Amino acid sequence: MSYPILPHLPTCILPLHKGVGEDFSGIVVGAGGAGSAFKPGDEVFGIVPYLPGGTLQETIRIDTSRSSGAVVLPKPADWSWEQAAAVPLVWLTAQTTIARVESHVQTKNGRVMVLGGSSACGMYAVHLARQRGWTVLASCSGRNAEFVRSMGADDIVDYTDTTTSVPEKVAAFVPDAIIDFVGGTGCLGLAPRYVTVVGDKTDRASPGGRYLYLWNPQMLLRAVLGRIGLSRCSYTCINLEFSDAFLREVLSLPKDKIVIDTVYEFGQVREAFERLISGRVRGKLVVKVAE
Ligand SMILES: NC(=O)c1ccc[n+]([C@@H]2O[C@H](COP(=O)([O-])OP(=O)(O)OC[C@H]3O[C@@H](n4cnc5c(N)ncnc54)[C@H](OP(=O)(O)O)[C@@H]3O)[C@@H](O)[C@H]2O)c1
Repeated sequence: MSYPILPHLPTCILPLHKGVGEDFSGIVVGAGGAGSAFKPGDEVFGIVPYLPGGTLQETIRIDTSRSSGAVVLPKPADWSWEQAAAVPLVWLTAQTTIARVESHVQTKNGRVMVLGGSSACGMYAVHLARQRGWTVLASCSGRNAEFVRSMGADDIVDYTDTTTSVPEKVAAFVPDAIIDFVGGTGCLGLAPRYVTVVGDKTDRASPGGRYLYLWNPQMLLRAVLGRIGLSRCSYTCINLEFSDAFLREVLSLPKDKIVIDTVYEFGQVREAFERLISGRVRGKLVVKVAE
């Protein structure tokens, strides 16, 4: 069933329909009608927002029409089910942030700061920024420094080092844009462009995103002033775009860049969420709902 209005509703209403999980990988068991892009037996992966019950189910019914927001692609044959399920949401989030800073980054010698370079979204923002030839500084803890460098960061700033100030390091780097996967306000105003998926909040229980404008007048004012040119910094708090074109780009991602922190059995969903909200995850958590 299609719910074309759902993408336009505030998230406080969405939980009525929303279940747990949006990414998935699996095998098509039935496909509707002539002209369908899929047939039984196809191996697919993707993301389906606003699905009643979410994707932590053995069988899901996906409306693949454009208005549903779902993005479904054939699974690359050499990716495991876990790898295929691990990428869509965080890859799309990273792609969306990159698209939103791209026009602000200098064509030659572009410089981008990624706050939260070891987060599941941040590691792909680092990778995509480096792919574009930009110089990338990323914040992470010392234990993740080598990992974030391996994703493409030119340098890192250790946010756990009490002798280092992240804002001071960012200011000294003079970035064209800051992409924020951590939240907070410490680095606001340190680049002409600031894109966040988290907003001013630092509470991991809230998903962040543009609906925070409704509750935080300061964020709204900041965004408006930047938009009408009354602030030297342009600021946006965004939600990921469910874009087919963005997800297709992941097909060229080297397999070794699909980073999975832990794979859980279906009976371990609680443990998976406890690990997620710990804020210590490197890469993605995957829950297997079937063999
Ligand atoms: N608006 C949207 O559309 C959207 C979409 C996706 C995600 N999000 C939001 O984006 C945020 C990131 O999500 P995620 O799944 O990518 O996160 P995640 O993978 O769960 O983030 C965990 C990572 O963040 C690092 N980290 C924690 N605190 C940090 C800090 N102060 N500075 C730098 N790194 C820090 C941790 O490293 P250490 O263990 O080394 O500390 C860990 O590697 C979440 O708040 C999520 O709700 C929003």
